Amino acid sequence: MRAVRLLHPGGPGALELQEVDVPLLQDGEALVLVYAAAITRDELDWPIDRLPAIPSYELSGVVEAVAADVNDVTVGDEVYALTPFDRDGVAAEYAAIPAGVLAPKPEALDHVESAAIPMAGLTAWQGLFDHGELEAGQRVLIHGAAGGVGHVAVQLARWHGAHVIGTSSGARAVGAHEAFDYASFEAVEPVDLVFDTVGGDVLSRSTGRRIVSIAEEHPGATYFVVEPNRGQLVELARLIDAGTLRPAVDKIFPLEDARAAFDRVAAPGKRGKVVLKVR
Ligand SMILES: NC(=O)c1ccc[n+]([C@@H]2O[C@H](COP(=O)([O-])OP(=O)(O)OC[C@H]3O[C@@H](n4cnc5c(N)ncnc54)[C@H](OP(=O)(O)O)[C@@H]3O)[C@@H](O)[C@H]2O)c1
Repeated sequence: MRAVRLLHPGGPGALELQEVDVPLLQDGEALVLVYAAAITRDELDWPIDRLPAIPSYELSGVVEAVAADVNDVTVGDEVYALTPFDRDGVAAEYAAIPAGVLAPKPEALDHVESAAIPMAGLTAWQGLFDHGELEAGQRVLIHGAAGGVGHVAVQLARWHGAHVIGTSSGARAVGAHEAFDYASFEAVEPVDLVFDTVGGDVLSRSTGRRIVSIAEEHPGATYFVVEPNRGQLVELARLIDAGTLRPAVDKIFPLEDARAAFDRVAAPGKRGKVVLKVR
């Protein structure tokens, strides 16, 4: 099969499209025919202790085969997922994935749009609700509101009944009630929760009753790493099919243009996710 592999540390220039063996199924796994795989800024820094590595940890596709002990999914199911970070990702024609993380893909979306949801949707859900304990009627400041995670966080926070303030030029376009730029957000009235996807100076200048960051660790802020979660993906698909949540796809690239895709995901000014269309 064709697969994108990171051969050595060094970012997009270290990616190659290669012919590799289709992965063999282990107990508990499903082999998924990958239709689309989305990518995340900075992710090429994650697997550098296990190179060469296939990047991208979220996909939409169709189950091609299952191990004998798998009952969660069957051949032909259309699925989407966030996949574990400690093994090869899904920027390839096939991926072997623990069946327990696969959820039925949203019916209202095609594979490219579905692939744009798992990382952003689960990170936003876990950041706002599990770690941030956001409640209806509270005020939340979302940094990087138009970005990959931010644009989904804005929609989920609004659905939950929060008042949403976003930083980023595109914050209002993705649904924030109020928008500020990074230079002036300190003028925002006190908030119950800051959900930070930017880090650095923006995070260190932030104040709120609770601060949650996915970008970096910082004193006074809760940092967490998103975890695959089938039940939360089922709920996200329900919100999508009800018309409550809509992913934004910034740009689509074919698998052979993975270097250009990773250059794009590293650039500021994106609106939503960058997706590799595999099939
Ligand atoms: N801890 C976790 O579990 C977890 C999960 C997902 C992602 N992440 C990390 O969280 C960060 C945000 O993820 P994301 O998918 O939302 O990424 P993103 O869309 O690239 O970033 C969010 C926003 O950050 C701003 N930004 C700040 N510095 C930037 C730079 N050097 N390049 C591009 N944009 C920059 C951009 O806002 P403007 O366009 O307004 O400038 C962008 O929209 C990434 O570092 C990612 O690796 C962590």
